[in-house]
Formats: sequence, C-alpha cells, structure tokens
Amino acid sequence: MAAKIYKNLIGGEWVESRSGQTYENLNPADTRDVIGVFQRSDKRDIDDAVAAAAQAFEKWRLVPAPKRAEIIYRAGQILLERKEEYARDMTREMGKVLKETRGDVQEAVDTAYYMAGEGRRLLGATTPSELPSKFAMAVRMPVGVCGMIAPWNFPMAIPSWKLLPALVCGNTCVIKPAEDTPLSTYNLVKTLTDAGLPKGVVNIVTGFGPDAGAPIVEHAKVNAISFTGSSEVGRTIGEVAARSFKPCSLEMGGKNAIIVLDDANLDLALEGVLWGAFGTTGQRCTAASRVIVQKGVYRQFADRLVYRAQRLKVGNGLDESVEVGPQINEQQVATTEKYVKIGKDEGAKLEAGGKALNKPEHAYGWFFEPTVFTDVDGKSRVAQEEIFGPVISMIPCENFDNAIEISNGVNYGLSSAIYTKDVNRAFRAMRDINAGITYINAPTIGAEVHLPFGGVKSTGNGHREGGLGAIDFYTQWKAIYVDYSDKLQRAQIDTE
Ligand code: NAI
Ligand code: MG
Repeated sequence: MAAKIYKNLIGGEWVESRSGQTYENLNPADTRDVIGVFQRSDKRDIDDAVAAAAQAFEKWRLVPAPKRAEIIYRAGQILLERKEEYARDMTREMGKVLKETRGDVQEAVDTAYYMAGEGRRLLGATTPSELPSKFAMAVRMPVGVCGMIAPWNFPMAIPSWKLLPALVCGNTCVIKPAEDTPLSTYNLVKTLTDAGLPKGVVNIVTGFGPDAGAPIVEHAKVNAISFTGSSEVGRTIGEVAARSFKPCSLEMGGKNAIIVLDDANLDLALEGVLWGAFGTTGQRCTAASRVIVQKGVYRQFADRLVYRAQRLKVGNGLDESVEVGPQINEQQVATTEKYVKIGKDEGAKLEAGGKALNKPEHAYGWFFEPTVFTDVDGKSRVAQEEIFGPVISMIPCENFDNAIEISNGVNYGLSSAIYTKDVNRAFRAMRDINAGITYINAPTIGAEVHLPFGGVKSTGNGHREGGLGAIDFYTQWKAIYVDYSDKLQRAQIDTE
C-alpha cells in the first residue's frame, strides 16, 4: 500500500511544497514501515505561511479571548476522543512506548484545558496614578506572528505548549515540526482546525531545519520565535533573532542528576532512577543521566540498578509488554555509541549494556541496550555532556554538600531530584540546587503543564514554557493611562 501523502496547511488550505520535494517519515522501531510522505518545504513555503498568518492576525487578535479559548477547549475534547489513535501514530513515528505516547497526547489535552481557562483571565493590572482624575492599567497584548520550531521527543506535547498559549493570547502561528515526527504535530493542527480555528491562524510547514526552520527565524514578519532542541541550533537561532530584536524563547538540553542519600527509601529511588533514565529511551531534556549516590548505599544501589537495567524489555513500543522503545534515528544511536566509547576511554566502569541491539526482533530499528556506567568522575565528559540516549552515569559522593556540588557542576540546569527522608536536607536541596525544576523523592521527569518549565545556564535563555511563563512570552505589556481631569497634567512635574 502506498504511504499517505501529507501536505502543509497554509492559510487554511492543504498544499504541496513549492519545492515539489517530499520525504518519508519512517518508524524507528522498523524502518520498513513508512508512516507517511511529508512535504520537504523551503523558504517559499515559509513566506506563504507567514503572509497567511500575518493576514489572519488582523482578525484573530480582535476575537474576544474567551471565544478563542472555546476553540482551544473544544480541541482538547476532540484530542481526548482521538487519544488512542494519535498515541499509536506517535509510537509508530517516534518510537516511545504506548503508555508514554498516551501521556504525550494527554499533555496536549491538559494544556488545552489550562490555556482555555486563561481565556477568561489573561490578567493584567490596574494601579493608582500619581495624578488626580487619572486612571492607569497594564494590559496584555498579543505579539503577532509567532514562529515555532519543535523537536521530535514530545511531538504533540511540545507543539501544544507553544501553539495553545500563543493562540489564546491572540497570536497567529507558523510551526515547523521536527523532520522525524511531523505526523503528531499534523494531528494536533488538524484537531485545532476541526475544533473551528479560522483559516491562517495556525499554519504547519514540514521539512528540515536549514531549509524550513531557518527561514522562519529570519523572516522579518515573524514577531517571536519559540524553539526547543539542541543547544547548538538554539545558539544560532538566538543570534539570528537578536539581530532583529525578536523575542526568542530557547529550551535546550539538560544533564539532570538524581541524588540518592544514605537515608533514602532505596526501593523508591531505584524505580525513580529506572524511569528517569530509561523512560523515552533517555531522550528527554529532563532525563536523568547522572545518579549521585552516597557512599553508604552506593554499591548496593549499583548492583540493583545494573540488575534491573539488564532486564528491561527493549522493543517496538506498540507491544504493551515493551518497557523501552528505540532511539529516534541512526544518528542518535551513533551519538550514544560515541559516548559509550568516551566513557570507557575515560575509565568509567561499564556494568550494563553498551551496545546497539542486533537480535532478529531489533534488526530493522534503532535499538540500544539500557546502559549503566559506574564509578564515573563527575568532571568527565559522560558526566558533563548531553547524550540523549539510554545511558546513566553513577557518581559516588561523600555527603549531602558534596552531592549538591556535583549536581550543580555542569553547564546545564534543567531538572534535578533528591531521594532522602530528612526534611532539612530536602529543603536545603530545593534552595541550593541550581536548576529550573527540583523533585523531592521523585525522578527528574514528570512536569505538569500549569507549572513553569525551563532551566538555567545553557538550558535556556530565561523564558519558561507552561503555566503563566507561556502567557508572559506570548503577550507584551501595554501601559494605558486615561486622564479624565480635562486639563494637562504632567507626570513627575504637576504632582506637588
Ligand atoms: P536539532 O536541534 O537539530 O533539531 C530541533 C529542531 O530544530 C528540528 O525541528 C530541526 O529541524 C530544527 N532545526 C535544525 N537546524 C535548524 C536551523 N539551522 N534553523 C532552524 N531550525 C533548525 O536537534 P536534533 O538534531 O534532532 O538532535 C540533536 C541533539 O539535540 C540531541 O542529541 C539532543 O542532545 C538535543 N535535543 C534536545 C531536545 C530537548 O528536548 N531539549 C530535543 C531534541 C534534541
Ligand atoms: Mg540537528
């Protein structure tokens, strides 16, 4: 059966790329499975999409926010009806297991409901004026056309974090999904149009980064950029956006640590580390890639972690008994292999995994063994650089202070976690870990949509997704003064 051809959505019409080129979206668990044929778009398609979004903005910004929100709410309801279908599509194109792809769709539903509620808030401020008979307020205005560039690891959730707050705030959007996972973003956009979103308000253009992503960032009529992905690409996007003073939200990597102290509930910590490290095959920006364990329980914890990691079932995520899916593509497997070699060369002890899987059931996919390094030096490359694969480094520590120092001793600062029963240490960790997210007695993954998501240092550039952080990014403040005194009153001068 020939694979279905998917088109771009521009100005409410499903259209082919002007390039005339397409590419195949393959299943990372079985590359013989072609999920669909997608448009390989370029600058001309982006120009069309931005023009459509700019035109649609003039009407959309005037639709009352509660009405905009009703469409978002309806989209959430439709997503819920289609949850199983979209989860299966996502497992096929992205690889992560069904439980997780159901969670990914659910995250878009949660975001829809939360952001729909914002339609009746979008709170600004009223405040007294320093002058008599004068009224002062600050209101939130939309930014305009928002350009969005998404990664493949949360192919519906992350686009929903970007699109839904932007829409409720009155912006229009051009989104380019990751080349590996366009279908899930397509499914989200299709749901929005089925929910009644007017033409041109959201435009989806598929394709590769340099051809279809870069022109969004460079376009003079794009008023804000939201990007999630690698630090390398994020840096370039930030530099380009800065040239035209475009607000730009960058959410990039992590090197997240779980601290396990001597007094921790080790059974709980073990489950947390397994989920944090090998959930999504380690391909989360919040994945636990370091576990810092206090000396008293270190060896015992290492033995138990290695035992369990070796017994995780790796395979096609559509099989409900599978615990760990494939990596997204050949390049990610190559990166993981590269870091396993680096770890060995640096003298870390490889105690579990370390190789791509080549049993018959893995022959056509990008599978890698869950991998555990022990006795890792916190300053070594495997403990410092983002791997984005199923690899965890165990680092021994002396005490609480030493654990915090190791945890903070990286260039990233996204997520963090500590397992302890000592409430004083838990609170000191909340204060002293330098990261955007801290979990107590829970792993580094599991963000909820109404809290701010993002990090410090090389993880981001100060913006937050989720919750009010998103509303802040997709609106700009306008100060409004109404003078009803019927005379000229000069601020700072006529105040005596
Ligand atoms: P990437 O940063 O190259 O891709 C992310 C998005 O940016 C994709 O939509 C891509 O098409 C687009 N893009 C690429 N080059 C661009 C350019 N010059 N201008 C505009 N857009 C561009 O990430 P990739 O190659 O998929 O993964 C490489 C590494 O990035 C991973 O190993 C991981 O370390 C990190 N990563 C982090 C993610 C996160 O959640 N923070 C998500 C995905 C990757
Ligand atoms: Mg790349």
